[in-house]
Amino acid sequence: MVQELVKGVYWVGVVDWGLKHFHGFELSTHRGSSYNSYLIMDEHVTLVDTVWAPFTDQFVENVRKVVDPSKIEYVIANHSEPDHSGALPAIMRLCPNATVVVSKGGAESIPSYYRGSSWKLKVVRTGDRINIGSSELLFVEAPMLHWPDSMFTYLTGKNILMPNDAFGQHYATASRFNDEVDTDELYQEAIKYFANILAPFSTAVTRKIDELLALNLPINMILPSHGVLWRKDPAQIVKAYKKWAEQVPEKAAIILYDTMWNATRTMAEAIGEGLSAEGVGYKLLYAALSDRNDVLTELFKTKGIIIGSPTINKGYMPSLAPILEELKGMGFKNKIGAAFGSYGWSGESVKNLEEHLTRCKIPLVSAGVKAKWQPTQEDLENCRRVGREVGAAIKAD
Ligand code: FEO
Repeated sequence: MVQELVKGVYWVGVVDWGLKHFHGFELSTHRGSSYNSYLIMDEHVTLVDTVWAPFTDQFVENVRKVVDPSKIEYVIANHSEPDHSGALPAIMRLCPNATVVVSKGGAESIPSYYRGSSWKLKVVRTGDRINIGSSELLFVEAPMLHWPDSMFTYLTGKNILMPNDAFGQHYATASRFNDEVDTDELYQEAIKYFANILAPFSTAVTRKIDELLALNLPINMILPSHGVLWRKDPAQIVKAYKKWAEQVPEKAAIILYDTMWNATRTMAEAIGEGLSAEGVGYKLLYAALSDRNDVLTELFKTKGIIIGSPTINKGYMPSLAPILEELKGMGFKNKIGAAFGSYGWSGESVKNLEEHLTRCKIPLVSAGVKAKWQPTQEDLENCRRVGREVGAAIKAD
């Protein structure tokens, strides 16, 4: 389906309702996604980004509904990742004389993804403009939001920002605009996207938003490359990004645990009692049955991270390993932590978890608790003590 967003600017993307994982299997996408592409019908017809290759036919058909593709003169490649550039070869076969506009980083990555291509490339820097007739395209480089080649394109006159991945969500919807969808769902997907993709680049996000605001561009719409488009109060997602990039977490705790015979689960619940005694809210997440990206989103949002595992083979349970590995890579800020777990004989899990939290630069604010076989009443009281101490540290922050 094609939709005219404002006069002369068309959404020609594709909604991928069936997408359940992205980046291979790195990121879960429970609500599908969309690959947004925009066609600007001006004196010089311009296409901004394309779609993932499996949807090429549908995409080309969408473009044809608006214009003969041979009339396209500029193809803006804001980012080379294949979910946006995948249909580039097909579209360029139909408009071989078009100029592909890229950032400096894109001048390296686009030809490297599409080896053998001989497209005419134009490299743009921040502040560069291209006149397309009644309006201009203004470019803002956005390196590491989230790849070195990432770039924003702004359409003057219509006052539309097309920031590619930034401000997007993996969220398939029947309607295109933010005022037409469930706001809670929208923000769940927007923060999950930020936490799992952009959080490691929070400093760059803050810097780029400040740079963007300093340009004093009027912005009527923000059209990201995934999910719904920000038409109603588009500044709201910019404000949300500023807040998320500051990484000031909620004053609550996540108790993330795995368990074999419920000993560690019982300990987790006792820690929860301790948090409650301090008036601090918490969620108990069972690692073995939780989605890794959903867990990471919760860890991103929350101040206290308390991790528990029984000892197995001198370590912690394998379900925790991918989450902990990502937690290290994400570099979430302003967290505090503690560890706990049951054991039968060697009992290394708590020490290993504490060492890992320290590697993640998450300070330990309470001595870990180990319980042999099933926890005793003393062990459980010790767990409540962990909950109280973490809760007090959360409140004191
Ligand atoms: Fe949506 Fe970085 O690609």
